Amino acid sequence: MNELEIQIQKYRNLVEQALKKVLQEKDLPQQQVLEAMRYSVGAGGKRIRPVLLLAFCEGCGGDVEKAAPFAAAIEMLHSYSLIHDDLPCMDNDDMRRGKPSCHIQFGEALALLAGDGLLNRCFEVMLFSCLTVGQNGIKAAVTLSKAAGVMGMIGGQVLDLEMEEKTVSKEQLLTMYHLKTGCLLSAACRMGCELAGAVPEISQTAEEFGDALGLAFQIVDDLLDLYGDAKILGKPTGSDLENQKTTFATLCSREEAKAYASELTKKAKLLLNKMGLSTGPFLYELTSQLLEREK
Ligand code: IPE
Ligand code: IPE
Ligand code: MG
Ligand code: MG
Ligand code: MG
Repeated sequence: MNELEIQIQKYRNLVEQALKKVLQEKDLPQQQVLEAMRYSVGAGGKRIRPVLLLAFCEGCGGDVEKAAPFAAAIEMLHSYSLIHDDLPCMDNDDMRRGKPSCHIQFGEALALLAGDGLLNRCFEVMLFSCLTVGQNGIKAAVTLSKAAGVMGMIGGQVLDLEMEEKTVSKEQLLTMYHLKTGCLLSAACRMGCELAGAVPEISQTAEEFGDALGLAFQIVDDLLDLYGDAKILGKPTGSDLENQKTTFATLCSREEAKAYASELTKKAKLLLNKMGLSTGPFLYELTSQLLEREK
């Protein structure tokens, strides 16, 4: 393992432990929904959002152990968004994280409820942690609730569905990507800073970094949907075409879309340099790797 991989593994271990702890109930009458929640959160996700949260927290001099429940919380929220995103009424995708999607495995009703369960558990975990971490935790929880709501991720998902089968401009697409994907990634970065008690300027720059990274991340996701390998990806390819979605991969050539993602990656790296965090070199490498990812 190289240094980047060792550091990612360190953060991932913290997240996995925290997720295990907050989703551990056994032998309850409503066991099935908990199983569906654990099934979808379970191995297979890249854990990018929690990794960003922990890296920003550490880079701002914070305690990653105390931040771990918040890292688990954002991953639960992200996993809920994927369960709902795959439902027949949304993208109608049968595979996720290398396994049958939640609704294929457990049925639509239980998948809907598992998503709801994860969203609620996310806020329960954050609020409970706030009892000990106090004000900084409350700030982070507010950040996530805004980013995930109708002014953020949910709003972006609404636009995504509305744009199906329509002619869409690059600007409209970027607004939608900012909301559906950028908001959660920038919240992860901002939350890490807030949990560490960073000054507002740092939290702001971290958010801008997350947004640039988020736009690049979604463009790469679009490219993988069109040109990627479903086996490596762990989710179907060609889903966007099937749903008649305009994406960066259909609006531009492969090279143009990649060049646009590279530009955004460059912008993200400049913002990182500006912050001068101790985890800056790690985040720099991670940002590069996400541009070249195959899953
Ligand atoms: C998929 O997110 C949804 C998008 C915002 C593109 P990820 O690519 O982070 O999915 P996992 O968590 O690794 O499965
Ligand atoms: C991001 O868009 C979805 C969410 C914000 C949940 P996609 O619909 O492209 O994500 P994938 O490709 O299904 O992972
Ligand atoms: Mg979608
Ligand atoms: Mg989808
Ligand atoms: Mg996609």
